Amino acid sequence: MRRSQKESLSIKLRRATVWDIPRIVGIERKVFPKPWGWDAFLSELLKPYSRVLVAHVEGKLVGYCVLWLFPPEAYIANIAVEPSYQGMGVGTALMEKVEEICRDEGISSITLEVRASNRVAQSLYRKFGFEVVGVRRAMYHDGEDGLVMEKLI
Ligand SMILES: CC(C)(COP(=O)(O)OP(=O)(O)OC[C@H]1O[C@@H](n2cnc3c(N)ncnc32)[C@H](O)[C@@H]1OP(=O)(O)O)[C@@H](O)C(=O)NCCC(=O)NCCS
Repeated sequence: MRRSQKESLSIKLRRATVWDIPRIVGIERKVFPKPWGWDAFLSELLKPYSRVLVAHVEGKLVGYCVLWLFPPEAYIANIAVEPSYQGMGVGTALMEKVEEICRDEGISSITLEVRASNRVAQSLYRKFGFEVVGVRRAMYHDGEDGLVMEKLI
């Protein structure tokens, strides 16, 4: 699919179940050098403060997001989209849902960390009003800095 098809894409969002984990881990391995494993996602499904959301396009799981809720604060622990579906609005749909949940849960601040080189993700977060509020030096295993981004709502 091409980016031009973005407008007509029907993206469905719901909470993840254990049956989604193999597909989530498959995407995770494609997009991150240090991917979370099956056990990490299973443990997210069991944590009372964690919401794991999945996005489907044409019946296929193509994206997910892990959101931690500690009212009045929230933290985006993970978000990713299947490479062949990136740039088509799936990340935006997930972030819109995150915002909706945060509003419903009385959240006033959402934070996250992103690699300093990850311009696409930073662009997504800026689009939603996130700003860089700090730098964690060499926080990634390969020595790259992490930017701390925050949105006040
Ligand atoms: C970051 C990620 C989740 C974004 O998801 P996505 O579905 O591709 O995002 P969208 O199509 O909704 O685009 C959202 C915004 O990102 C930016 N963006 C998307 N693709 C881009 C590209 N190729 N170049 C530059 N900016 C881009 C744009 O600002 C876009 O908004 P716009 O379309 O209104 O201009 C996805 O690229 C991804 O999974 N990346 C790998 C994993 C990752 O880095 N996760 C984040 C870790 S902090």
